[in-house]
Amino acid sequence: MAARAQIGVTGLAVMGRNLARNFARHGYTVAVHNRTYAKTESLIAEAGHEGDFVPSESTADFVASLERPRKVVVMVKAGAATDAVIDELVPLLEEGDIVVDAGNAHFPDTIRRERALREHGLHFVGSGVSGGEEGALNGPSIMPGGTRESYASLGPILEDISAKVDGTPCCTYIGPDGAGHFVKMVHNGIEYADMQLIAEAYDLLKQGLGASAAEIGKIFEEWNTGDLESFLIEITADVLQHVDAETGQAFVDVVLDQAEQKGTGRWTVQNGLDLGVPITGIAEATFARALSGSVPQREAGRAALPAETQGWDVKDRAAFVEDVRLALYASKVVAYSQGFDQIAAASAEFGWDIDRGAMARIWRGGCIIRARFLNRITEAYERDAQLPLLLADEYFTGAVGNGLAAWRRVVAGAAQNGVPTPAFSSSLAYYDGVRAERLPAALVQAQRDFFGAHTYRRVDKPGVFHTEWSADR
Ligand code: ATR
Repeated sequence: MAARAQIGVTGLAVMGRNLARNFARHGYTVAVHNRTYAKTESLIAEAGHEGDFVPSESTADFVASLERPRKVVVMVKAGAATDAVIDELVPLLEEGDIVVDAGNAHFPDTIRRERALREHGLHFVGSGVSGGEEGALNGPSIMPGGTRESYASLGPILEDISAKVDGTPCCTYIGPDGAGHFVKMVHNGIEYADMQLIAEAYDLLKQGLGASAAEIGKIFEEWNTGDLESFLIEITADVLQHVDAETGQAFVDVVLDQAEQKGTGRWTVQNGLDLGVPITGIAEATFARALSGSVPQREAGRAALPAETQGWDVKDRAAFVEDVRLALYASKVVAYSQGFDQIAAASAEFGWDIDRGAMARIWRGGCIIRARFLNRITEAYERDAQLPLLLADEYFTGAVGNGLAAWRRVVAGAAQNGVPTPAFSSSLAYYDGVRAERLPAALVQAQRDFFGAHTYRRVDKPGVFHTEWSADR
């Protein structure tokens, strides 16, 4: 078989198939392969006319059809399947060839695979790909890790097929080994937080105004013309105005209120705990999904727990809507600020040297959290690449400060009226915590010294101290 394909894709389920079509539509000759050949045949039958595909039934033929250095995109089920495919590919590849894992791998697996392939003289690129099926076909946001050397030949192809915003590709080199999959994981964590915040805003408007889903959908539509403009706000407006064909009711009202998850939120929170980074917005969002699915606990709670509320009587409806908008924006800034802190912490821990401004730039298009607001994040890191706290950037202090009184009113109102707003409330608590002159952590540290002789430091002199507490008792 003549080696003429510039890039190959193995694993032709929906994502792999659409990525292969995207490459082909951009003029690349694409080698395609799937464990079950029928999927390859169906791709050729249905999309063969879109470009130059080279189908192979065997992995050996697939590899042989690629120009060197070979670039193989693996798009199979994350986990054992990825290892199985890699094991099959490795003996067929030669030094300098590049294996791209475009699936949703957990970054420690990517670190492990990169090390193993390096020993064979191969480049392993763990790449986040965001945007779902539609993004894969028409332009995703792409987050490739691995070596800079591999990016030199692979990067231009990935940039070519990525989404573009103002002519700038939503793809950039992220950093060594697991950096690409790590950043994709945090992207998903931020997505969890953003979705939860939007859901809480919806609930506040529903409970505070007694508004219908369609009315709230209109409010979101309006919000999508301002600072909050984003894919998630846009689809929320559509979802809320959607009517269930079967019952004629608002669609959202016939959906069971139990949110599921595939696990990237959990990975993000677990890593936040490992690194000691307070990603409270992402954690609350992940736990809110868990609470929604805690059916026996909810049944018991519903039956036994009083509310002691009077029913929310919002007087100035327009002012309330604006308060919720401002509180949503401020809470969202906190969630993103925390996510970017997590990226900075991991970058330092693993030696990745990740450019946070570039992250915000490649998330402006193609992915689920794409938003106008990300430009502000890029600008903030352009002002100061080492910014210790995104919230403290001059633009965000202004934007959040502007909504601070509204944010407090909304959280207080929610608490008084028994509306659960874990993400709004914890974001405000984080804001107050991170700006506090002095925290009650002093007492926690004193307690630790009392019962465990864990020692403490003092405000008035250097050194580490322990008090003989028994003398006090
Ligand atoms: P789907 O998305 O169609 O439900 P999946 O089980 O998530 O499928 O698998 C996605 C892709 O991974 C498919 O291309 C699948 O190949 P098959 O079409 O042959 O099922 C591929 N895949 C899963 N496990 C694999 C393995 N162990 N080796 C090679 N490819 C595998």
